[in-house]
Amino acid sequence: MGHKKTVSIIGAGNVGEHIASLLVLKGAVNIRMFDLPKKDGEKLYAHVKGKALDMLQMACALGIDTDIQGFVVDQEGNGYEALEGSDIVVITAGFPRKPGMSRDDLLGINISIMNTIATQIKKYAKNSVVIVVTNPVDIMTYSVYKLLGFDKKKVVGMAGVLDSSRFRTFISLELNVSPKDVHAYVIGGHGDEMVPLVSVSNVGGIPVSTLIDDKKIKELVERTRFGGGEIVDYMGTSAYHAPAASVVEMIESIALNAKRVLTCSVLLDDEASNYYEAQNLCVGVPVKLSEEGVEKIVKVPMTDYEKELWRKSVVSVKKNIAIADEFISKYI
Ligand code: LAC
Repeated sequence: MGHKKTVSIIGAGNVGEHIASLLVLKGAVNIRMFDLPKKDGEKLYAHVKGKALDMLQMACALGIDTDIQGFVVDQEGNGYEALEGSDIVVITAGFPRKPGMSRDDLLGINISIMNTIATQIKKYAKNSVVIVVTNPVDIMTYSVYKLLGFDKKKVVGMAGVLDSSRFRTFISLELNVSPKDVHAYVIGGHGDEMVPLVSVSNVGGIPVSTLIDDKKIKELVERTRFGGGEIVDYMGTSAYHAPAASVVEMIESIALNAKRVLTCSVLLDDEASNYYEAQNLCVGVPVKLSEEGVEKIVKVPMTDYEKELWRKSVVSVKKNIAIADEFISKYI
């Protein structure tokens, strides 16, 4: 049996917990979870330890060999020793989005949390690939990249896999076909200006634009853009099943060196900056994900109309990068 990689998950809220649970089911990696204690009245619960133990017993019931452990940390950054040796670190910690709140409202507070976590990753897991999930994700990915000072290949944000899954779901429902055969890509920032790339989206190789009329495609695009909000409106809190599954897809590609082409938020390198006409920001583009992290940024063709949408999306991410830079400068 080969050496299993170790995935550390910081933040065992809904998303972190479901990432862990899905990873247990896959049985391919060792799992470490980290979270603050949970306060209920006077009592502090080490709920991260309870969740890990519960999932260990779940694995036993299912006949799966796994190694999952939970660790209680504090807000000052104590308790992260078990990060040591992690191959992949996933950051889900942060304040969640509440109804009526935009992803960008979360900015300042979540950057300070990223700083505490980045300090610990630098100390214990300086060779890891870091996946950022905390919103606003493009800005948090950029912040973590800056705060860590790692190579840009090593820091990657999760959004495009989720947004593309939503778009694929809606296309598959519309055409009554298996989502497995629906290839659709959403690039740009993970916000209301994200760019579902209709021109390269296809079902079994057949362009979506020849299968669904324009008016309906527009509706599917709009529903995708507000896909996160639709779920917040139903549940009063953010989605977590599809976000967790999207992170797991990324983890698998990295841990197994599978070189999947997945849309992720990354810092554009010089070549990609040229092609995408944007620089000094993290934004969603298709990338090849391998054990080294972002092995390559893929240049996806766009129509003029899609380019226009892309530019708009970049502008809206850039606006918040400028604000983030001020917060970040307090720490580095
Ligand atoms: C969503 C959150 C995770 O899109 O941003 O559901």
